Amino acid sequence: MSARDDTAEDMAFAAWLEATRQRTEAALERHLPPADTAPQRLHEAMRYAVLGGGKRVRAALVYAAGAACGANTQASAAALDAAAAAVEFIHAYSLVHDDLPCMDDDVLRRGRPTAHVQFDEACALLAGDALQPLAFTCLAQMPIAPALVAQAVRTLADASGSLGMVGGQAIDLASVGHVLTLDELETMHRMKTGALLRASIALGAVVAGASSPLRRTLDTYAQALGLAFQVVDDILDVSADSAALGKTAGKDSADNKPTYVSLLGLERARELAEVLRGEAHGAIGAMGDACRQSEPLAGLADYIVLRGH
Ligand code: FPP
Ligand code: MG
Repeated sequence: MSARDDTAEDMAFAAWLEATRQRTEAALERHLPPADTAPQRLHEAMRYAVLGGGKRVRAALVYAAGAACGANTQASAAALDAAAAAVEFIHAYSLVHDDLPCMDDDVLRRGRPTAHVQFDEACALLAGDALQPLAFTCLAQMPIAPALVAQAVRTLADASGSLGMVGGQAIDLASVGHVLTLDELETMHRMKTGALLRASIALGAVVAGASSPLRRTLDTYAQALGLAFQVVDDILDVSADSAALGKTAGKDSADNKPTYVSLLGLERARELAEVLRGEAHGAIGAMGDACRQSEPLAGLADYIVLRGH
């Protein structure tokens, strides 16, 4: 599969992504406590961690999956906003905690000092802590059928917990200085990064009340995309500079962490990302007419993989 040409389709996707990013920023602002609400410093730190940067890929996946599954009522629009905010809150908390001295001990995130540098360690820890329940408050407020709210809560909780993102992070921390097999690396990445991306897509489908077959095919797309995202993240760690990344480049190899690049080399890691991009597009094709709007899903698969080129 070749890179997308600079066509009208690409321009339409770029416009969709930008509109979606703005919609996400507005949703995040609405769902965050105001900075002047006590305890102010905690709320300032939460807002610092969430606002002012980030590609908002996870939120975009919520909206893209919702559109693919035909979520088009006013209530589902509000629910998609809440779900988009929820996944970005979980993501922001994970970045704050990941950057702490007890984990990756990093000073740069999204082109700014990390939260514990800007505030202090205890404040950053608590801001991350408070973002987690806030995500579930968002989901609980969704104006959709209670059974769908329960499914959404379960989906995000499972993806974030010890069998998902937190479990992947535990494997990541334990693997420093060790050689992992390709299967072990894949398991770690599927949990640490893939689970939340996969949940973002599942949440869009839940909000739309999508059928089980459609959800399953979307999940095939999501699994390919989730892994591709981390393969590309590994590629960028060695191929991009800190200014472009907004975080410390070369950190994984400096920390002696196993990555797709350390295991496969740069070229084979790029080939793997391409294979996964092909799998994601294949899944979109398999949805056929059940997919109401495929362009955002297709555009996101290309966007995620091609940023590593
Ligand atoms: C970059 O996302 C982030 C990742 C690839 C995820 C890495 C996973 C963790 C840090 C898990 C940590 C978990 C715990 C429990 C501490 P991105 O490129 O979308 O970043 P952006 O939102 O800044 O654009
Ligand atoms: Mg890390």
